[in-house]
Amino acid sequence: MSLNHVTMNLPNYPMEELAKIRQKLIDNKMKVYDFGTGDPKIPTWEPIRKMMVDSTTSISQYPSSSGCPELIKGIWTYCEKHFGVLPKQGLDVLATNGSKEAIFHIALNIVGRAGGKKTIAYPDPGYPVYRSSTLFAGGTPYPIRLSETNGFQTEPWNLPADVQADCAALWINYPHNPTGALMDEAHLKKIIAWCKEKDVLLLADDCYIDMFDPEWDKTNKRPPTPIMYTHENVIAFMSLSKRSGMTGYRSGFIIGDQRLMPAIAKARANMGVGTPTAIQKAAAVAWIDEEHVLERRKIFSKRIDLAFPYLQKLGMIETKPQATFYLWCKVPKAVDDVEFCLRLAERGVIASPSQWLSEGITGYVRFALVPDDADTKEAMEIISQYVQSL
Ligand SMILES: Cc1ncc(COP(=O)(O)O)c(C=O)c1O
Repeated sequence: MSLNHVTMNLPNYPMEELAKIRQKLIDNKMKVYDFGTGDPKIPTWEPIRKMMVDSTTSISQYPSSSGCPELIKGIWTYCEKHFGVLPKQGLDVLATNGSKEAIFHIALNIVGRAGGKKTIAYPDPGYPVYRSSTLFAGGTPYPIRLSETNGFQTEPWNLPADVQADCAALWINYPHNPTGALMDEAHLKKIIAWCKEKDVLLLADDCYIDMFDPEWDKTNKRPPTPIMYTHENVIAFMSLSKRSGMTGYRSGFIIGDQRLMPAIAKARANMGVGTPTAIQKAAAVAWIDEEHVLERRKIFSKRIDLAFPYLQKLGMIETKPQATFYLWCKVPKAVDDVEFCLRLAERGVIASPSQWLSEGITGYVRFALVPDDADTKEAMEIISQYVQSL
């Protein structure tokens, strides 16, 4: 008896591994400082929650998979305000059940496009679903190794010629998980031009696009997304998980080339991905408001300011990230990254080793700054003591 090749050979999902470590610590009655999963524990802005509660109806019915009118209106308000894009001008939007499912499902629509191209290229280290979705869809995954020497930039023009020729789609993810790297406008425009030349569909995972240094708000600066510069051959994936602390609600949207989106909408109607209507209505409230997001940016920026000096002093990180809430640090030379994280876990501190967030990258560890300020400080002391003991 067996299942298919892809299912039988899947590696363990990193967050499941971290959950096991966490449970063991809890069973041993230890205090846990969980920097493993990017799931911050900050209360959801009350008007969002209230809208969800007030929208729960006595009769339960199937939700719209492409988005209820209130949500679509809220999404366009957000897109116009921040990216300067308007409805019916080359782009369409579709609601998603968080961005993970949309990232996963899009591979089913892409593998085999444009003359049967099968390769989907994506950043490594990076979100594991780019790879697994490609495999499940029968495509050829191609990890693009990001390097500290060029600021973790994606440079598809350096891929081997045969990979470029077979490339159906390219994932980019800036602000980047796990490094916190950003891509500037010039580089992004170069990527757009490369995609156009090679007929590659550009997929922008913009999960962290609202999580940047709150100082930028003073000048209306923001990380760019490709939809600001082109409507052609592009789809951007947005999420309320990090922007509004709504990981448990499961809500996001995709915005992309109007020539592709109707077919994607038809495909998604088959996938069972409709978000409950009460959550869609709550999501509309979240997209329209910016104040609660600014508060979240301030919280994470303060936490980066708190943790960064400790890790910098230990020689584990040089540059303070200006986006996301991740610190991507070098593991002290004497230790393997998995070993480092297991030893830290014995002291109650959970973090993700690079080997679990990549295809063979060793020597780094990711801290997701999700515990509160007091716990972050305590954990940094524990990490400092451990590293100094090496
Ligand atoms: C880079 C990246 N993309 C996508 C996701 C999926 O987020 P969600 O499904 O909560 O929108 C995550 C979650 O951590 C992520 O880190």
